[in-house]
Amino acid sequence: MTASHGERAGSFEHGAADYAASRPDYPDAAVDWAIPPGARDVLDLAAGTGKLTASLVGSGLDVVAVEPSAAMRAELTRLLPHVRALPGTADATGLPDESVDAVTVAQAWHWFDPATASAEIARVLRPGGRLTVLWNVRDETEPWVAAFGEILHRGDPMPTHYVQPAFGPRLEAVEAGEFRWTQRFRPANLRALAASRSFLLTMTPDEREARLAEVDALVATHPTLAGQDVVDLPHVTRAWRASRR
Ligand SMILES: C[S@@+](CC[C@H](N)C(=O)[O-])C[C@H]1O[C@@H](n2cnc3c(N)ncnc32)[C@H](O)[C@@H]1O
Repeated sequence: MTASHGERAGSFEHGAADYAASRPDYPDAAVDWAIPPGARDVLDLAAGTGKLTASLVGSGLDVVAVEPSAAMRAELTRLLPHVRALPGTADATGLPDESVDAVTVAQAWHWFDPATASAEIARVLRPGGRLTVLWNVRDETEPWVAAFGEILHRGDPMPTHYVQPAFGPRLEAVEAGEFRWTQRFRPANLRALAASRSFLLTMTPDEREARLAEVDALVATHPTLAGQDVVDLPHVTRAWRASRR
């Protein structure tokens, strides 16, 4: 049976440890591009285990993380114990009106209702504040990355490419950014990366184990991966930013 969009959005609750152990963070150039000059208060919305939150904190910003999954928030708090991490959703962040200079949404806009999320984000942004949404996309021009992607996405009804999001009427002057970078990645960790994905998290245990066995076979046999401790995993971070009227 195919999982619903809502079931997939909620599935991260069951994959938090794999997520924290395997998912990429974000390149500094993308983080700099996301934040307007002079910004101080930032909401990292759908913060997950804090992959982007950590970079924002490292840039000296005052960050509040909002994330609905208790298990994901627990990983974030383990990594970043001094960051305020609140339960909440894109429709209801729980933050006061006009309380932040920037909102970031990494790898999560596709889980939101764009109209209600846009209205909520516009509410919490100060006038002139910025929304930036980002996705890390693995670069499948590298053959082993394409082979890995085929195992991950075969039969997945959700789109695997990202286009300019539809922001609401109070968020304007949309600009696109693209940032190429390379992650040093341990092939042994590809299993956790696969297991952290909503498509696999919502499969039956047998289906999931069959996909993970395919990942294990790829790691054991692909000439670029077999016997390697660490390999290059190329990414393109695709981003869009907009300003609040
Ligand atoms: C793929 S993870 C991204 C986490 C983090 N931003 C990152 O870049 O690693 C997607 C996150 O969106 C959260 N999420 C799903 N639906 C949401 C909603 N309606 N509002 C806010 N967060 C949501 C999930 O709990 C999950 O932690």
